[in-house]
Amino acid sequence: MAVILDGKALSKKIRNQLKEEVEELKEKAGREPALAVVLVGNDPASEIYVRNKIKACENVGIRSIDRKLPANITQEELNNVVRELNEDKTVDGIIVQLPLPEHLSCREVINYISPEKDVDGFHPVNVGKAVIGLYDEGLMPCTPAGVMKFFEEYNILLEGKNAVMVGHSNIVGKPLANMLLNANATVSVCHVYTNDLAYYTRNADILCVATGVPHLIKEDMVKEGAVVIDIGISRVNGKIVGDVDFERVKEKAAAITPVPGGVGPMTITMLLYNTVKAFKMRMGY
Ligand code: GUN
Repeated sequence: MAVILDGKALSKKIRNQLKEEVEELKEKAGREPALAVVLVGNDPASEIYVRNKIKACENVGIRSIDRKLPANITQEELNNVVRELNEDKTVDGIIVQLPLPEHLSCREVINYISPEKDVDGFHPVNVGKAVIGLYDEGLMPCTPAGVMKFFEEYNILLEGKNAVMVGHSNIVGKPLANMLLNANATVSVCHVYTNDLAYYTRNADILCVATGVPHLIKEDMVKEGAVVIDIGISRVNGKIVGDVDFERVKEKAAAITPVPGGVGPMTITMLLYNTVKAFKMRMGY
């Protein structure tokens, strides 16, 4: 039976530390760190995510700026909103909630965000820093950074291990594969075009999965004693499930993240972490 890697507890611990730090920073700088959240249109899932992000800010004392924009906004107008926020000295972090309506380019708007305010870590400058391991100088994407916090918290060694990343998205798979590589793991990246996925996963000491395919990873695809990190989240018959068949795999793995309550809570926590980090970098602390 695996150790359950508790994302709720780890989130709480980090958020408590951030709350204390924010109080000290506010005293020192005369203002609190601030995060601007841009939401275009009214996608119900995005509205919930944005609400949760704003609530999380309030809980640690970060000021939030809620910018709701109409679905029919033009690219130029959206870019101008971002430019305004870039120039606002009292704003430390900017996120544009994705996905955007189809007529808008998320790449274009991400490129408009000033890299030092890009608390999602999606700007090419921050992506580049993540690839070469310049973690202190840049802002790392929240979900992969949250996964790395689990390894730190639970003293899971990565050096020399076989790490397999299933999923090659720009937001999770690619940056997390690079972080594992920078920790000296031997990294394989699998994806939807991989032939014989199980060949790779069975050899994984560290198995990270971010595909959005419910229960893709079965017990017979996992090595005895592996560490399994489930970054997927889907709703099946009204129930939230991950990419890993948790109930069976937990009997074989040494450690595993549950869904919900694993990686999920860490994503917003790392957004708060990045906002505080951006504030400190901008203030020269
Ligand atoms: N949509 C889904 N996940 C994310 C995220 O991490 N950041 C932003 N901006 N949008 C998202």
